[in-house]
Amino acid sequence: MCDQTEKYHVIKYLFEPRHVAIIGASANKKKIGFKIVENIRLGGFKGKVYPINPKEKELMGFKAYKSIGDITDEKEIDMALICVPEPIVLDAVKTCVSKKVKYILVITSGFSEIGKNKEEKEIVEFAQDHGMRILGPNIFGAFINKSDLNASFASSIIPKGHVALISQSGALGAALIGETGEENIGLSSMIPLGNKADVDESDLLEYLMDDESTKVILIYMEGVKNGERLISVLKKTTQKKPVIVIKSGRSKKGALAAASHTGSLSGSDEVFQAIMNQCNVHRPEDIAMALQWAKYLAESPVPKGENSIIITNGGGVGVMAADACEKYGVQLFDNYQTLYDVFSPFVPEFGSIKNPIDITGQVGIEGYEKCIQASVNHPDIHSIICLGCEHALFNEEALKTTIERIHKKYGKIKPILYVFYGGKAIKNAIKHLKSLGIPIYGDLYQAISCLGELYKDYRHKIMLESTTKELDTENIEINYDGIEKILHEVKEDNRKFLLADEARRMMDYAGIPMPKSIIATNMASAVEFAKEIGWPVAMKIVSKDILHKSDAGGVVLNLENETEIMDAWQAIMLSCRKYDPLAKIKGIEICEMIKIETETIVGGRRDPNFGPTLMFGSGGIYVEILKDVAFRALSFSRHEIMGMLKETRLYPLLLGVRGETKKDINAIVDIIIRVAMILRKFDQVTDIEINPLVAYEEGRGVKAVDARILIK
Ligand code: COA
Repeated sequence: MCDQTEKYHVIKYLFEPRHVAIIGASANKKKIGFKIVENIRLGGFKGKVYPINPKEKELMGFKAYKSIGDITDEKEIDMALICVPEPIVLDAVKTCVSKKVKYILVITSGFSEIGKNKEEKEIVEFAQDHGMRILGPNIFGAFINKSDLNASFASSIIPKGHVALISQSGALGAALIGETGEENIGLSSMIPLGNKADVDESDLLEYLMDDESTKVILIYMEGVKNGERLISVLKKTTQKKPVIVIKSGRSKKGALAAASHTGSLSGSDEVFQAIMNQCNVHRPEDIAMALQWAKYLAESPVPKGENSIIITNGGGVGVMAADACEKYGVQLFDNYQTLYDVFSPFVPEFGSIKNPIDITGQVGIEGYEKCIQASVNHPDIHSIICLGCEHALFNEEALKTTIERIHKKYGKIKPILYVFYGGKAIKNAIKHLKSLGIPIYGDLYQAISCLGELYKDYRHKIMLESTTKELDTENIEINYDGIEKILHEVKEDNRKFLLADEARRMMDYAGIPMPKSIIATNMASAVEFAKEIGWPVAMKIVSKDILHKSDAGGVVLNLENETEIMDAWQAIMLSCRKYDPLAKIKGIEICEMIKIETETIVGGRRDPNFGPTLMFGSGGIYVEILKDVAFRALSFSRHEIMGMLKETRLYPLLLGVRGETKKDINAIVDIIIRVAMILRKFDQVTDIEINPLVAYEEGRGVKAVDARILIK
């Protein structure tokens, strides 16, 4: 196994190959093998280019070879592109061994995407066994600006800049190159993943997170393969630069097959979205928004605080902008005295100096300049949104030259965005200013969503600086040996679930408090145990054949005395025997009746994509109706778990509303960490669900009334 530094150096060769070979290069202009060599030549790649073709001696000025093995010089060929038909791809891969190629980009289609999984696997296994990695197959090649390498059959003119694109879809990836061109978004690299048979997003992020030429990473993803690694790499990357993810596919299939509430509530997109939030990934609703965010995040200076100012010449758009700020989490500066001091010299009496600052239609474009200058110079103002509605005092040329001048002067000091509404002249000005890289928009929601995403990153950085790095498991003890023994017994018994008393013992070993309980095997001992526990008590059937105890009439609550115990004993036995005459009954559990206060649910489950995940939300019998739950990838951080609690509608109730006391939130977090620790330690545990976990007032802890545990 290689360590992190080695890994970085290896992935470096994909982005900074010293020399490249093209197997299947062609002199036929209609062929992909021609276009790739042509694009490499036009891109100005500085390394050596080796076209491989059985017939040609020379191609576009490069000496051609019959096979990569025929190259006699000692140059390191770090990258080989393969563009020969599918049946001969494996042979082509084999020829790369002699030159110790590091990355093979398989352009060829016709593998797992049409069911040829075996052929694809063979290629990857061969390559990996020989120290080579495969990108693709089924890709259009790669573009890497810093290496002057356009090893693709996409466009030959790719705008250069600071956004790295990673796309699982080749067609969309190629289309995105066109879209970025239209939007004046320059690319640092464009790497498609195709069938993602070997190299995946995580590999690319390992490099891009430290690549100085990349300021923003935009990923189009269809499916997640190694989710746990992706989470870890994304968390590291988003500490350094913004990552925007567009994901297709919102399948509920996984949820339908689930065997617990946690499972049925964790539809794949809910979990995906929650994990992306946890990793501070930006998730736009569509491609247009993704491109706007990418451009803005790559170019804007970082704000130094939360106070935003809206400068407008129209009251109505000012109010709309204030609404948009609320929607996207942009905070408007509201210190009236400062607003008065800064803006009153520039605003007519019939305007407004309450944020939004309404300079009115009387003030021309020069009025904006004065307000922006004053805002930039004031230390308590951190970002500026300029809104304008076209009127007779506006003209295209003045708008162009003034905004260009303002932006040159102040655009790198504080975040400033411009939104202008109007006809042809305004549209022309916007187009021109956009082409200069100025953040100017024809729609305020689009503009303010960009600022909102910038602030999302700003807050994340502040949060990272203020939270401690150590894990929160240090003071938590769990009797793992005890749990191991129970799991072994369940396995020996060939079961996939734990019986109630096993689940109780497991909770006990995990330090998760449950109500007192003892299993009685006859009526007399049931009475004795009830006295020992204290009135009132509940009685529950214990049988491995009866999983849904209430449905079988196996549960009676609130028993107050001996007679009620004896009556309940007979009633439970009778209805359970009727429910399943062959059921093996171990006895009846006598449990402490606990006072139900705030009911929560805590779940832990293995997600097919992301591995162990956690869930928290409103508990009790209505969980699936309320659907008030939040998810996280496995975490031992109190801070991250608190983030999950805060996402639920239940959270304000936990804080105490209408004179109610605050609930024991620390104890809830403690239970969630214990569930996480069991999931981490025991791979065979697939689902843990505690429902309800009753939360008492602060300092009085929690109680797990019921626990369901499933194993592989
Ligand atoms: N080594 C080197 N070159 C070889 C070779 C070998 N072992 N065997 C054949 N070649 C040459 C061929 O002679 C040909 O060169 P020529 O034009 O001088 O004759 C060249 O390689 C290409 O082979 P050819 O059989 O003509 O294939 P092709 O160009 O028609 O198609 C692919 C090859 C890879 C383009 C095609 O199979 C394919 O997969 N197309 C889809 C690609 C795609 O869309 N990818 C996903 C994008 S999102």
